[in-house]
Formats: sequence, C-alpha cells, structure tokens
Amino acid sequence: MPITTAVFDAYGTLFDVAAAARALATEPGRGDLAAVWQKLAADWRAKQLQYSWLRAVTGDYISFWQVTQDGLDWALEANGLNDLDLREHLLALYWELAAYPEVPAMLADLKSAGIATAILSNGSKDMLDGAVSSANLGDLLDAVLSVEDVGQFKPDARVYDLVGSHFATTPDQVLFVSSNGWDAAAAAAYGFTTLWANRAGEPVDRLPGVPQHQANDLSGLAALATTL
Ligand code: LAC
Repeated sequence: MPITTAVFDAYGTLFDVAAAARALATEPGRGDLAAVWQKLAADWRAKQLQYSWLRAVTGDYISFWQVTQDGLDWALEANGLNDLDLREHLLALYWELAAYPEVPAMLADLKSAGIATAILSNGSKDMLDGAVSSANLGDLLDAVLSVEDVGQFKPDARVYDLVGSHFATTPDQVLFVSSNGWDAAAAAAYGFTTLWANRAGEPVDRLPGVPQHQANDLSGLAALATTL
C-alpha cells in the first residue's frame, strides 16, 4: 500500500533537544552546567520517559509538561545543581527548539510528493505549538497530534489510533518516524511502516515490533517514502 501520510515523533526526532541544552551550557556563567550537561540531559530524558510510562501503568496520567518538569527536578538534584534560574532556562528550551538541519527540506519534499505530514507526540499541545512555531515548521505540517486528546502516553495503542482518526488512513498507509527505539518498535508492532531515526547509533530494542527501516538522520526520508 503506498504511503499517504508521514508521522513524526517530536523531541529528538524533529527537534534537537540536546543542541539546545549544549548551547545553554556554553553561556557565560554556566560553569556548573558545562561540567555535567551531558549527564544532566541524559538523566532528564530518562526520567521524563520513565515517569510517563510509570504514570501510564499506574493510571496517574498527567501532562507531559508536568513529567518534563518532574524529570528535570530529579536530574538537577542528582547532578548537584540547585539553581532555579537554570531550571527555568532549561524548561524554556522545550518551547523554543530548533529543528534538526535536514528537517525543513525533508518535510517540504514530502509535501511536494503529495504525502501528508504530521507530528504525533507525548508533548502537550501548547509545548508542541511553541516548538513548531519557533522552528518555523507550521507551514510544513498538516497536523500536530498530541496524546492530550486520549490522556495516555506512547506506546499505548490509543495514541497511535489518533493518526487513523485524523487522516482516515489504515496503518500500512502511514510511515511512522521516531528516534526513540521503543516508539519505533511499538509503531511497527501497531502496523505502521516504520523508520527508526537511529541518530545515536544504538542497538535495536528487544521488543515485539521491529522497525522495517533505519537511518542515521532524516535526509533520505522523502525519497524512501515515495518508493514504498
Ligand atoms: C515525543 C517524545 C517521546 O515527542 O519524544 O513523543
């Protein structure tokens, strides 16, 4: 079945969260952050995701914005950074992220090929709207779908259902793209044609679904989508 719709995870897939944290670490007066920023960023991301999954398991859904703040508070404490100004700056980054360099042309190529484009993210709607507009991607996306509409986090299948509800697609018409191995695995198990943007060169997750495609970045995505 030809691909009609390309759907993207947001953070780490279209938006470069790590670059924003790295840039903040190089600002004058941020010596404490510069020493630990990579571990802080990894701890923050790990806790943000763990809290989303744990809250899903225990039925304590709360917005991604809240788990993003809770994950950061854990990571700041774990790395000995008790700095409210730094906390505010790091949180603000989520609202004003840059896209990876290859993203605008890739989205434009998809649209030229007649393929619809969308984000499907754990992010809350206002966080996503902020990032989309600061990265100037608004005109290149047909939809920004947030888990907020179902009150669950990925990889709950009800989140992936949002794509078919919005675009009236069957899963095999959708090319789903994520830099998160677990998200790509779940999307493949759901039935989407899936590309894992394995930017970090990680091993394949040992989960039931296996993404059919892998790439280091998204530069070849439009060419792939039009040949499937
Ligand atoms: C998202 C996170 C999981 O955008 O990257 O959904």
